[in-house]
Amino acid sequence: VVLVVDFGAQYAQLIARRVREARVYSEIVPSTMPVAEMLAKNPKAIILSGGPSSVYAEDAPSLDRSLFEAGVPVFGMCYGFQLMATTLGGTVDNTGAREYGRTPLTVSRPGSTLFEGTPAEQSVWMSHGDACSAAPEGFTVTASTDVVPVAAFENDEKKLYGVQYHPEVMHSTHGQQVLEHFLYRGAGIEPSWTTTSVVEEQVAAIRAQVGTKRAICALSGGVDSSVAAAIVQKAIGEQLTCVYVDHGLQRKGESEQVEKDFVAATGVQLKVVDAEERFLTALAGVSDPEQKRKIIGREFIRVFEQAQAELVAEAGAEGEEVAFLVQGTLYPDIVESGGGTGTANIKSHHNVGGLPDDIEFQLVEPLRQLFKDEVRMVGTELGLPDAIVQRQPFPGPGLGIRIVGEVTKERLDLLREADAIAREELTAAGLDREIWQCPVVLLADVRSVGVQGDGRTYGHPIVLRPVSSEDAMTADWTRMPYEVLARISTRITNEVAEVNRVVLDVTSKPPGTIEWE
Ligand code: XMP
Repeated sequence: VVLVVDFGAQYAQLIARRVREARVYSEIVPSTMPVAEMLAKNPKAIILSGGPSSVYAEDAPSLDRSLFEAGVPVFGMCYGFQLMATTLGGTVDNTGAREYGRTPLTVSRPGSTLFEGTPAEQSVWMSHGDACSAAPEGFTVTASTDVVPVAAFENDEKKLYGVQYHPEVMHSTHGQQVLEHFLYRGAGIEPSWTTTSVVEEQVAAIRAQVGTKRAICALSGGVDSSVAAAIVQKAIGEQLTCVYVDHGLQRKGESEQVEKDFVAATGVQLKVVDAEERFLTALAGVSDPEQKRKIIGREFIRVFEQAQAELVAEAGAEGEEVAFLVQGTLYPDIVESGGGTGTANIKSHHNVGGLPDDIEFQLVEPLRQLFKDEVRMVGTELGLPDAIVQRQPFPGPGLGIRIVGEVTKERLDLLREADAIAREELTAAGLDREIWQCPVVLLADVRSVGVQGDGRTYGHPIVLRPVSSEDAMTADWTRMPYEVLARISTRITNEVAEVNRVVLDVTSKPPGTIEWE
């Protein structure tokens, strides 16, 4: 394992991802973890992330010098670089000379461990106030900028390396190469971490954990729960039962996809619970978004608990025990709930309205080490079709929170049609991967005047909300081609009765959220 020491501000997650892209397994640890504890994990290398502090700030996080003396290769980035410099006797000045954003870097030792094969002039992403003016003893300065004389230093003998910039961000043109040079050349690590090895490892771990008992999984049709279920199915086969709650708030073709495609690909035992009427009755007369979310979450739990009780009763007759609950928890969820230093944003949603806390199950979380893109790769490895694996995120409460106003069967059917058209056209235009997701929203309480044929209409607007994002925490509206927008608009207004206007949401997040409710 390669440890990424998190000094805050979300850099660590990106670094961990880049390390894995280099096919080396990485984990994030908080900077407050004692060095002895870090070393006890037997890391092959340690990376010190950037962070929001100045090394001169009073409460600046520090590191014990012993980290640099353990013989483990270390790579410091930005704040990590400055910390390394000051800890080992170099000079970092609080010059007030700031560098921010894209900056030209001059490599003075082109053949060095970090920079070999990269251009003498390259663009890097800087974000700092303090500057290193002298490297610690034993280190060679290998790059500089107009503002900082020491923008990179290397010590091959001790296997210690550092750069002032952020190699992990896209804007650093040769950042990934420099990171890989550290891992492969500096630390001598073989790139061997693959999705095949993840699947093998997890299958063995799940078998060991579950033994001969039984497990259940709430399947939503989304990527995470599907891949989690598929990997558990591979491990324990018939001992797994999936429960799919059909709440009537799905998109067109969604239930069929879960029932047919997923079962065909995995052979999993599936229990489908038809609960449409129950959900619609509970939602009748409600337009407040938070209230809708609560009702959907509550009903989901009730239906799931009922299904689970039935399964337990069935299993009981056979003398087996249903003791495990499969969840598609991902690595960012773990990091956000305390795996890191706690500076990262905390997500306000949970899966499918949130399963009960007091549920008497042990959790099986086969994806807890993985990032979203890795989950997709594992899904493909497991033979799941692209229609499942490449799906865009869809909220647990479904179309229930994409109707502004009361949720009724008629409105759901109307929105399902509009949404299906938008999805069809986006797919046909090859935009599925470029667009993170495109909620289609029905403004059920708004009406506007239109003209169709020779007649006046008084219909509802549909909102298109295409967004680009890396992780849904922040997002920007997607600048998508006008022709595609035109096709979607024409088709929706022609084919969906009651809709006479299509509008485009051009708000980033923040200030808007991705969903309208
Ligand atoms: P917002 O609207 O907060 O959404 O910008 C961020 C991401 O989360 C999805 N989302 C949910 N996912 N349960 C979920 O599983 C929910 O209750 C929920 N609400 C929003 C949303 O689609 C976007 O990807």
